[in-house]
Amino acid sequence: MNLAGKFIVIDGPDGGGKGTQIKRLAERIARECGVSVRTTRDPGGTAIGDRIRHVLLGYDLSLMAPNCEMLLFMASRAQLVAEVVRPALAAGQTVIGDRFISATCAYQVAAGVPREKVLEMGRLAVGETWPDLTLILDVPPELGFQRTGRTPQKAAKKVVGGDQLAMFADAHLDAMERRPLDFHRRVRELFLELPAVYPKPMKIIDATRDADRVTEDIWKALRDVFP
Ligand code: TMP
Repeated sequence: MNLAGKFIVIDGPDGGGKGTQIKRLAERIARECGVSVRTTRDPGGTAIGDRIRHVLLGYDLSLMAPNCEMLLFMASRAQLVAEVVRPALAAGQTVIGDRFISATCAYQVAAGVPREKVLEMGRLAVGETWPDLTLILDVPPELGFQRTGRTPQKAAKKVVGGDQLAMFADAHLDAMERRPLDFHRRVRELFLELPAVYPKPMKIIDATRDADRVTEDIWKALRDVFP
């Protein structure tokens, strides 16, 4: 498989096992395809993006207008693409992205932003740098949150004061996790609808099964798209 200069994104509802799968995929691509692999996280992944990530996930999002929320995710991504993704692809690296525009098409559309607007802003934010393949690790929110142990119904304790949440202590939920289970059900539905309307190739992977099966399905999907 020639994956030099290819951009692969892993996305999906919380608790789908993205972290584990990205780590495995990065190691396997480097080993079996002989290319250098760069992993990125979105939102964040740059000094500027990490500051935007803090504004997004460390505060009470009910105070933020949905368009502001969507534009901040896009702003972080515009920086990530300019600073990290584009140079890495140009240098022949394989880039594996932890989330991308696909996440905004699910979470911020569930929060009330029209999907067309998200795609339009996505084009502005990243230009031509869209993923060659996006894999959605699909898991129902009940199972996802059971796995992460961070259920949305549990009220987050405000420990910082005002409307700022404690972000980094494991016991506390980030701003997205604080949204109700129905929101996360809608997020999952929107991810499942996305392959039909997303401008770039996308596949759904059943992530309810054990991690080894998911790893094999991801590898098979890559082989199908990059023979
Ligand atoms: P993470 O858990 O993958 O680091 O992502 C942080 C949270 O931000 C997660 O709940 C998904 C959410 N998110 C959005 O709402 N919109 C986006 O565009 C992205 C990239 C993430």
